[in-house]
Order: sequence, then structure tokens, then C-alpha cells
Amino acid sequence: MRKYRKREHIENYLKATYEGDTLFEDVFLYHNSLPEVDFDSIDTEVEFLGKKISYPFMINAMTGGNEYSNSINTDLAKIAKELNVPIAVGSEIIALEDEDPSIACGFKIVREIMGEEGVVIGNVNAFVSVEDAKRAVDLINADAFQIHLNPAQELIMQEGDRDFTGVLKNIEKIVKELDVPVIAKEVGFGMSEKAVEQLYEIGVRYVDISGHGGTNFIEVEDLRNPDIVVTELYPWGIPTALSIIEATRAEHEGLFVIGSGGIKNGLELAKALALGADMGAMSGEILNYLVHGGYQNCVIFLERTIHVFKMVMAMTGCKNIEELRNVSYKLTGKLKDLV
Ligand SMILES: Cc1cc2nc3c(=O)[nH]c(=O)nc-3n(C[C@H](O)[C@H](O)[C@H](O)COP(=O)(O)O)c2cc1C
Repeated sequence: MRKYRKREHIENYLKATYEGDTLFEDVFLYHNSLPEVDFDSIDTEVEFLGKKISYPFMINAMTGGNEYSNSINTDLAKIAKELNVPIAVGSEIIALEDEDPSIACGFKIVREIMGEEGVVIGNVNAFVSVEDAKRAVDLINADAFQIHLNPAQELIMQEGDRDFTGVLKNIEKIVKELDVPVIAKEVGFGMSEKAVEQLYEIGVRYVDISGHGGTNFIEVEDLRNPDIVVTELYPWGIPTALSIIEATRAEHEGLFVIGSGGIKNGLELAKALALGADMGAMSGEILNYLVHGGYQNCVIFLERTIHVFKMVMAMTGCKNIEELRNVSYKLTGKLKDLV
């Protein structure tokens, strides 16, 4: 059942050991010895989905729908509110399929805690009907709606989808019919320039490239099923740093790019923005801190992440996010070869 699968995903994520590579190491930012910047006046605020948020950073989709997930969602929502950053809930499909009201509660709690002023984002798969997409939006009064693209994960799952034909047509239908923006989102395998182009052409204006180098759903699903072992596929996917470059290369007008996948600290967040992302997002590392360290440790980890992010802004001479997105950098090693 889906609600048990969710718990297994969390448990297996925490057990996973494979270390992928985002290629952020291959992004070199120039140190500025003469920054005309007052650290305390650095402006990290940005507008996202019509609301002001304190940092270009969000807590990305993970969970909701069983007791364990609901307590995680409660903590994540409190943290997002405290930091004034957006939060996406995990796939809402379980709440749409199951009549049990406690399942829906685990998603609704996020909006309750965030209040109407906070940014809360829904999440479903790409084959959902327009009607179900609308129900998922209504359930949490979502500001936007993530459609996750996860063919690699589905193929590893014994019970997963095998037929991906018609995916773009369905996303196009949802984009046209929904009153809130759609965010097309990977789950850790990255998007190519071509995929982003195809999404842009059908009207998508927000993409989360969620690249390789962090949470690895091939490994997470592999651990769920002892009969199938696919370790040779663990390195599969487009590294996050490369995928951000791919997504922003064509400079599509009005396209908002979220860079996620393996971001673990403020330096990597700053690099994601320097490469052209409008915002960064984190899932796995937050879950690690929350489950292993507890609520307060997780808050301290994120405050430290933001502090380091601001330090990098100061050391590159950036007073605001727009300046960081235009800061000069050089690519080295494998990333340079792949670009
Ligand atoms: C336990 C767990 C559950 C997740 N569930 C979802 C989900 O329901 N929907 C989704 O779009 N992404 C889901 N993700 C993927 C994340 O949103 C993100 O795209 C991916 O983990 C890469 O980011 P990270 O390396 O910072 O974890 C999940 C990730 C984790 C760790």
C-alpha cells in the first residue's frame, strides 16, 4: 500500500550509503577582497508565487499520509514558517485515493501551520487527471502544484509504471486547466536542456531540475526489493550543477528554475544560484537532521546553511540575490567537459 511505501522510502533513504556527485565541486566562485557590502544589510528576500519569502530556498517534497510522515510534515512546516521559506508536501496521491480522513490531515496540517501568508506547494505524479490535480490543490490551498517526473524510480519499483507515453500531453492539459502554476519536478535524476524546452513549449513556467548527487531513488527503491539489485545504475542521472546549466542555457523568458538535488550547505546553495537557478531546494539533508538530530538541531542546521550562504554572498561582493545570480564563476574538471 502507498502509505507503507512512504514510510519505507523514508527509512531506506536514511539507510542509503551511495554518494553521488552533484559536480558543484567543479564550480569555482571568485573571492572578492574588496566587497562593497555590509553583511548585515545583505538582502536575501525574493518574491515567489506572489509572496515575499526570506531566502531563495525551499523545503522540497517528501512526505505526508501516515502517522510517522505527518509528524515529520508538522515539524517541517514549523521550520518553514520560522524561516519564512516555502514548503512542498510529498505526493498527495494517497490522500486522493484513500477515504481515511487522517491521511488528508497529514497534508492539511502544513497549510494550517504555514497560514495563508506562507507558500505551500502540492505534489502529484504526471499521469494524474485534471480533476484529481484540482483536488490536490484544494486540499492544501496550494500556491503552486508540483508534478513529479520520476521514470527512473518507477522502472526500479516492482509495482511501478512502465508506460510513459502521453506524459507531456497530460501535463499540458493540467497546466491549461489549473488556476495555480505548475512546477514540473524531477526527483533526483536531473533534467536536460531538451526536457526543459519541451516543458516550456507546453506552457510550463516553473521547473525544479532535481538533479543527481543527493537522494538516489534507484538505491532507495533497490533497498526495498531484495530480489532485484541494480547497483550499476546508482550513478545514473544528470548531476545537479550540470542540469541547472542545461535548464538555464536557452534563457527562456519567464522561466523560473529551481535547483535541487544533493544541496547540503550554504556554499552549494550559492553555487546553484550563481549558475543561474532562481532558487535552491533541499529534501534529504533536512530529513537527516530532523530524524537523527531532532527539531532544534534541524533549525540550527538550516540557520547555519543560510548564514554560510550569506557569507558567500559577502565574499563574492553581492548585496542581493540578483547580483549573486550574475556573479562570475569558472567551471573546472568533469563539469567543464560536459557543458
Ligand atoms: C524520503 C523522501 C521522499 C520523497 N518523496 C517525494 C515525493 O513524494 N514527491 C516528489 O516530487 N519528490 C519526492 N522526493 C524527492 C525530493 O523532493 C527531491 O527531489 C530529491 O530528494 C532530491 O533532493 P535532495 O538530494 O535534497 O534530497 C522525496 C525525497 C525523499 C528523501
